[in-house]
Amino acid sequence: MHRRLIAPGALAASLLLAIPASAADYTPGAPGIGDPYYPAYGNGGYDVSHYDLRLTYQPTTDELEGTATLLATTTQDLSRFDLDFLLDVSEVRVNGAKASFTTSGQHELEITPATPLPKGTPVTVVVRYSGVPSTKSAYGFSTWHRTPDGAVAADEPESAWWWYPSNDHPSDKATYDVSVAVPDGTQAISNGTLQSTSSQRGWTRYNWRSNKPQATYLTTLAIGRFDITTGKTSDGVPVVNAYSKDLGDNDGAARASVERTGEIVDWLTGYFGPYPFNSVGGYVPNTTTGYALETQTRVYYSPRQFANGSNTSVVVHELAHQWYGDDVSLAGWKDIWINEGFARYAQWLWSEHEGEGTTQELADYTYASHPADDAFWTVKPGDPGPDNQFDTAVYDRGALAIQALRNEIGDDAFFTVLKGWPKEHPYGNATVEDFRKYAERVSGKSLAPLFDTWLFQPSKPAAPAARGASL
Ligand code: ARG
Ligand code: ZN
Repeated sequence: MHRRLIAPGALAASLLLAIPASAADYTPGAPGIGDPYYPAYGNGGYDVSHYDLRLTYQPTTDELEGTATLLATTTQDLSRFDLDFLLDVSEVRVNGAKASFTTSGQHELEITPATPLPKGTPVTVVVRYSGVPSTKSAYGFSTWHRTPDGAVAADEPESAWWWYPSNDHPSDKATYDVSVAVPDGTQAISNGTLQSTSSQRGWTRYNWRSNKPQATYLTTLAIGRFDITTGKTSDGVPVVNAYSKDLGDNDGAARASVERTGEIVDWLTGYFGPYPFNSVGGYVPNTTTGYALETQTRVYYSPRQFANGSNTSVVVHELAHQWYGDDVSLAGWKDIWINEGFARYAQWLWSEHEGEGTTQELADYTYASHPADDAFWTVKPGDPGPDNQFDTAVYDRGALAIQALRNEIGDDAFFTVLKGWPKEHPYGNATVEDFRKYAERVSGKSLAPLFDTWLFQPSKPAAPAARGASL
């Protein structure tokens, strides 16, 4: 209203700029953050810096309830915004005031604050919720795994929707406090450091803190009856491992592998530089899934990883991700090669360390064991598409590409790149192109043709000339 009364002129013009836009200029945040592989994942209009989850879980009924408090900053003038979530919401408050909310799409919780939110301002969002996660699905699937004595949230790329509301995309990393009350005798395991536990009325509350930026899919929760072991790496990083009391025949092999976490972190530090977080370890719940996951500081292992005896290779793989994936995270899901190629290459280095084949021998073997007409070569590790993100080619052809890079730039430059990369983007995000440019800077070589051949062509590369007869 005042605007109309101001006479035209320079002074008035500058005053005009200072007047906040009217509510009509505020627009809804996008329902997806803009990842071409998963258009609905994440959201637009804000950036989360911290999640505080205060939850209660009852294993016998799979009932989860509690409150999520998100600290965020708006990145546009916002009339409305989404969180990704599947459970039943009873109340939302934004900056203290009740907000209206509704659900839409597969996993969108649409929140309309009482007052529109100007760009660049801090926002506190409180979501009260409850639900039975195993009854919820999106796109026809669920990644919440119930176990005989609890449950586990650990999957990639989707796991958060079943237990906390989030901006579910690795490009929006945040710190976490995860506090979960469970019946006495049951434990709750999450990322980072166990700050404290407390008991009352038959419930024990576990308070976990992860104090370095963490992607939503790397945030994990496991409830069950666990044995917990502790130790330290040579650099003094606390090691906390947890084993389900219900691992049966796999118990020995699981412990014989995961108890070597400290040794393996020490060894990886030689290649990747100092371990980036304040705690490390793994947990082995009594799940039946076939994969492991590099959940930050506290790796998820399926007992099936240990069905044939010890498996230090999977421990190396998941711990390598703490640098390649967790510290430096994907900018978008198409950048998955930086995670899986390097975690696989770390396994090859471990094989060499253990006297079970050098990286070059494994590269030669991998190259030779896939004939040119094998579908393996149709997957482009540098852009595999959402359906092939975890195809074996992303891992094995991805590691082959790394051996090709090593042979092209030489060991000195290669190991400088390997150790230097986490320092290039600490606690950040990066693309495959960022990696290529960094390797070019360190090596002084133009690497576009090599990257194109090994990562972006849907066909078997010719045997690299520099490598001689064995390829
Ligand atoms: N990043 C995991 C690993 O290779 C892969 C997880 C694949 N996810 C799945 N649901 N299978 O360590
Ligand atoms: Zn992996």
